[in-house]
Amino acid sequence: MLKDSPQRYGSVTRALHWLIALLVIAQLTSVFSSFLWEHNVYSQLILPWHTTIGVSVLVVMALRTLWALSQLQQRPVHEGTLQRLAVWGHVLMYALLILMPLSGALMTWGSGYGIHVFGNAWFEGADAPWAAGFGKFHGTFAWLLSFMIMGHIVMAMYHHFGRRDDTLRRMLGRETPD
Ligand code: HEM
Ligand code: HEM
Repeated sequence: MLKDSPQRYGSVTRALHWLIALLVIAQLTSVFSSFLWEHNVYSQLILPWHTTIGVSVLVVMALRTLWALSQLQQRPVHEGTLQRLAVWGHVLMYALLILMPLSGALMTWGSGYGIHVFGNAWFEGADAPWAAGFGKFHGTFAWLLSFMIMGHIVMAMYHHFGRRDDTLRRMLGRETPD
């Protein structure tokens, strides 16, 4: 099923979730591992694509937000205080997943560098100190997002192996008993 239902996430939501997860984990691990081991092969392979992957995250996140809003009434139900906290956690992750590439793009553009996506110049660089100033936040957003993702994965594992409920299964697309 393409659309979400109260029992499970549909294929569009799942595809968007796992695509963004893959791209964002590649971004974060390629940068952070280069801090630990400069010039490692993995980072050298991925870092030249940092802008292209980041801008793709921004575009896909815009579509994902519209899609999530269109599915709000029919998504798996989150009842109780802890579950509602989880929903706010997801909202915060959406915000960071947009602010992260947006701050990177503004910093790059405002510092006079063009924004090249898949080898095409999408924007020429400009001298805009207000935009360059967003660079101050790019690293902070990255750390915040990394902590949220780690907590998120721990909670997904806790649901699956600790509480043995269907939280992970409904994001993996496995059939769950109604
Ligand atoms: C999902 C999106 C993105 C993630 C997760 C991400 C992650 C990161 C991280 C972790 C750093 C290192 C920060 C630090 O020094 O502490 C970084 C640096 C950087 N990013 Fe991104 N980034 C993203 C998108 C973008 C985009 C779209 C652009 C440009 C269009 C961009 C341009 C840069 C630049 C130029 C730096 C080097 C900044 C500096 O050395 O001060 N990033 N990014
Ligand atoms: C191994 C990695 C991951 C696992 C096992 C996982 C698992 C899950 C599960 C089970 C849900 C559904 C939670 C619920 O219904 O309450 C979910 C939702 C969500 N996950 Fe992940 N996740 C992973 C990685 C990520 C990453 C890297 C991000 C961010 C880049 C992320 C962002 C989200 C968001 C925003 C939601 C809210 C639902 C939506 O709109 O898609 N996840 N995840």
